[in-house]
Amino acid sequence: MMSDLTDIFSAAEVEKKLTTRVIGRPAICLDTVDSTNIRARQLASEGAPHGTIVAAAHQTAGRGRLARRFESPEGQGVYLSVILRPEMPLAELNTLTLMTAVVMLDTIEELTGIRPFIKWTNDIYLNGRKLCGILTECSVGEGGKAEYAVVGIGLNLYQQREDFAEEIRSIAGSLVSETGVHVFRTDYIACLAKHFERIFCDGAFPENKKEVLHRYREAVFFLGKKVEVRGYDNAWPAVALDIDEEGRLLVRAEDGSIHALNSGEISIRFRPDGEIEG
Ligand code: BTN
Repeated sequence: MMSDLTDIFSAAEVEKKLTTRVIGRPAICLDTVDSTNIRARQLASEGAPHGTIVAAAHQTAGRGRLARRFESPEGQGVYLSVILRPEMPLAELNTLTLMTAVVMLDTIEELTGIRPFIKWTNDIYLNGRKLCGILTECSVGEGGKAEYAVVGIGLNLYQQREDFAEEIRSIAGSLVSETGVHVFRTDYIACLAKHFERIFCDGAFPENKKEVLHRYREAVFFLGKKVEVRGYDNAWPAVALDIDEEGRLLVRAEDGSIHALNSGEISIRFRPDGEIEG
């Protein structure tokens, strides 16, 4: 899907490639920002419309789940946030993250010909390496309803495996390192916007939730495998069984009890060839 010889990162370039009506209208492209989620929240609170994309070539304070940093080196990926004003109960906002994971699989598959996998809840993996993370944040308005949601997506595009910081070198990857395909940043944004719009607009959402969650479940690579469930102050071994209709992960503990996890962290042991142990 390379349509240019140079990878100019600008709103005008995204605009040329967009095929959407809502998502990416407008698209804001920044060279550097602290965090696109922070910037998008500011803009949303000032009234930015449903579908606005805030994208950056570099983040100085990229945020991940569980208050972690998300490494966002300059020119190596795209860090973006989509502002959504969803008509859905607050309790279901987690669904946005899960559905966005499916948007990412469709986008990456279209761009590279390879469909990656999902590590519940919000990570996209290929060859046992994390390519992309998703962080959804929302603001609660009057009546306890979501005023807006900001879906933040960080995708590594160009790093080689050895380029990553030592702490994440054995588990991080990029589109180039794992698929060999070099995708221009604005082609990626336009393609993402198209898949986002198909799933979240045109009256499809939220009626399509069941079907999209079914596709989510199909992509979770560790069902039937041994995992470690990590709580705030404990960790316990279990077998991952399934994803239920609410997007919860069902696991069987060693004593045979079944647990439905809403959020949290699962750790999986990968062999060097990217296959899962256990
Ligand atoms: C995770 O891996 O835990 C989630 C990472 C989410 C990173 C993206 S990059 C764009 C947006 N801005 C942020 O500060 N975080 C998200």
